[in-house]
Amino acid sequence: MENQEKKTFYITTPIYYPSDRLHIGHTYCTVAADTMARYKRLQGYEVMFLTGTDEHGQKIEDKAKEAGVTPKEFVDNIVEGPRGVLDLWKLMNISNDRFIRTTDDYHELSVQKIFKKLYEKGDIYKGKYVGKYCKPCESFWTETQLVDGKCPDCGRPVVDAEEEAYFFRLSKYAGRIQDLLENTDFLQPRSRVHEMVNNFIKPGLEDLCVSRTSFSWGVPVDFDPKHVVYVWIDALSNYINALGYENGKYHDFDKFWPADVHFVGKEIVRFHSIIWPAILMALDLPLPKHVYGHGWLLLDGGKMSKSKGNVVDPYVLAERYGVDALRYFLLREFPFGSDGNFSNEALINRINIDLANDLGNLLSRSVSMVEKYFGGTLPAEREADPMDEDLVGMISSLRAKYEEQMEQYAFQNALTEVFKVISRTNKYIDETAPWALGKDESKKARLASVLYNLLESLRVCGALLSPFMPQSAEKIAEQIGASKEEMSYESAGRYGVLPADVTVHKGATLFPRIDLQKELAELEAQHAAKEPQLPKYEGVATLIDIEQFGKVDLRVAQIKECVSVKRAKKLLKLQLDDGFAGGRQVVSGIAPWYKPEDLIGKKVIIAANLQPVKLCGEESSGMILATDLPDGNVQVIFVDDSVPNGSKLR
Ligand code: MSP
Repeated sequence: MENQEKKTFYITTPIYYPSDRLHIGHTYCTVAADTMARYKRLQGYEVMFLTGTDEHGQKIEDKAKEAGVTPKEFVDNIVEGPRGVLDLWKLMNISNDRFIRTTDDYHELSVQKIFKKLYEKGDIYKGKYVGKYCKPCESFWTETQLVDGKCPDCGRPVVDAEEEAYFFRLSKYAGRIQDLLENTDFLQPRSRVHEMVNNFIKPGLEDLCVSRTSFSWGVPVDFDPKHVVYVWIDALSNYINALGYENGKYHDFDKFWPADVHFVGKEIVRFHSIIWPAILMALDLPLPKHVYGHGWLLLDGGKMSKSKGNVVDPYVLAERYGVDALRYFLLREFPFGSDGNFSNEALINRINIDLANDLGNLLSRSVSMVEKYFGGTLPAEREADPMDEDLVGMISSLRAKYEEQMEQYAFQNALTEVFKVISRTNKYIDETAPWALGKDESKKARLASVLYNLLESLRVCGALLSPFMPQSAEKIAEQIGASKEEMSYESAGRYGVLPADVTVHKGATLFPRIDLQKELAELEAQHAAKEPQLPKYEGVATLIDIEQFGKVDLRVAQIKECVSVKRAKKLLKLQLDDGFAGGRQVVSGIAPWYKPEDLIGKKVIIAANLQPVKLCGEESSGMILATDLPDGNVQVIFVDDSVPNGSKLR
């Protein structure tokens, strides 16, 4: 490669929604992309590794409102704030070259220009978006999103409605996209092609709604500013905008586009393998070489949620077990293309067996023996033996096998190949019994050969593990006395690179063993104690004066009866004694957290002068006060029994 222009490699992750803190599932794809980026750099490529955040849309707007801050303040906190997205990538040793936020000025400018270009070309046109509308929530829903024909958020009836919107002529590109998916290796793994073609293309691709007027947190369409660009043109174009497409911020579009690969989770494969190529075709731009749809990390076979007993906070995991161990586990435990079950137990087992036992022990035994028998520096005399051939052969051919797997993004298989050599090397120690050779003065040259082979195995394995575990690879190099050059990709393809009289430096244990039972018990105890977590947002709502506050009539009321509401899983119907004759009925969305029988007799606070509403057909006069807990649960505010029913709060 020296005499040619440097080859380039452009890799991306999806841009993450900063609507909540990221969990280990989000970390998975970023670690995989980072490993690929490091691998390509090791091979000598000039790499562009892009990640970022997808910050617009109704959900963020709603969450910000709930937190009483502006949408920008809300996303800034999750992206740049303490323990936010940027902090997490730093902690995980993510080597991205660029980070794009869809609220960056240059990105917004590009989105507007792309939208206009497509409009002028006739690939975007104005039409009507028809759907179901919930007036109180101001939200559009599709038929399939409704719950029992009602608004999935509040349970109230919806009406047929339409709003003016712009559409992208996706249907026009159906034939070309089908051809791309079926007849090229654009979408990987191959198993995902069938679903895309049969479920989405064959039934007929409809044009795509690409603007909205029902919310405002988005990039305005500059020639029709009551519209904001809706989701996919904004989100997907980040991959070209981050290279300077239609903006003056960067200037390496020609150098890096088309991307070599977009890594994406399986649920967004559809957008990346159908909508994205269609947008690029409409813009007359080359298509990315590959889209790789990886699987999901699951908890007990289901979606990740914080309430299931396993710790999924990447901060906690990295701090407890080390960044490299966590990175290794993610890519070793699960085949990248398929779903996998995450558990703390599997993680600890991997650390103990592969890292502490197989790799860590090999390193410490090898270095210790060089120190013990030769004072740390091997002598130059050698005595080879036919019994070395198998190991030496494996060391020499490892890089080719590893590369074959890495080129297919088969991280798990690449690691398996490396660990086959590590196991073989441990077996070689048993076969050659260096401790016996060490007792015999005439066997010194033979012993030196054996120990040299151990160090060579560690060198090649360490170099090839470096994209996965960068810090540990450096420690291995340091302990076995290998220089940067000796750890290079080129050197990893050969046996016999370390100098004959290499000097080792014993260091700390790479991966300490973890007591599985003790650790699981500790995690369990922590979980039960509900580890204090950061509040979601510390800002308070917009200031009001005392007069405005006085308008809210807060009262103490006692729950007399409580039953669940048919056809509304979230709702409970409560009869309250509010100090007035007859009492009142309130319907509250607390069913996921309370059983009716646990509430009867309890005293609560109600907002007593709220306009009565009907929720799922039941009259509700007022609202029970409750709070969101950091773990996602809801807690009703209970009042001491001594406070009379009907007491007014002030
Ligand atoms: N903003 C969009 C992507 C736009 S890309 C132009 C988005 N964001 S997301 O934050 O919801 O998800 C980001 C990525 O995280 C997706 O690829 C998704 O598949 C991945 N994951 C979220 N939970 C996951 C697991 N439990 N396991 C593995 N990946 C998962 O979608």
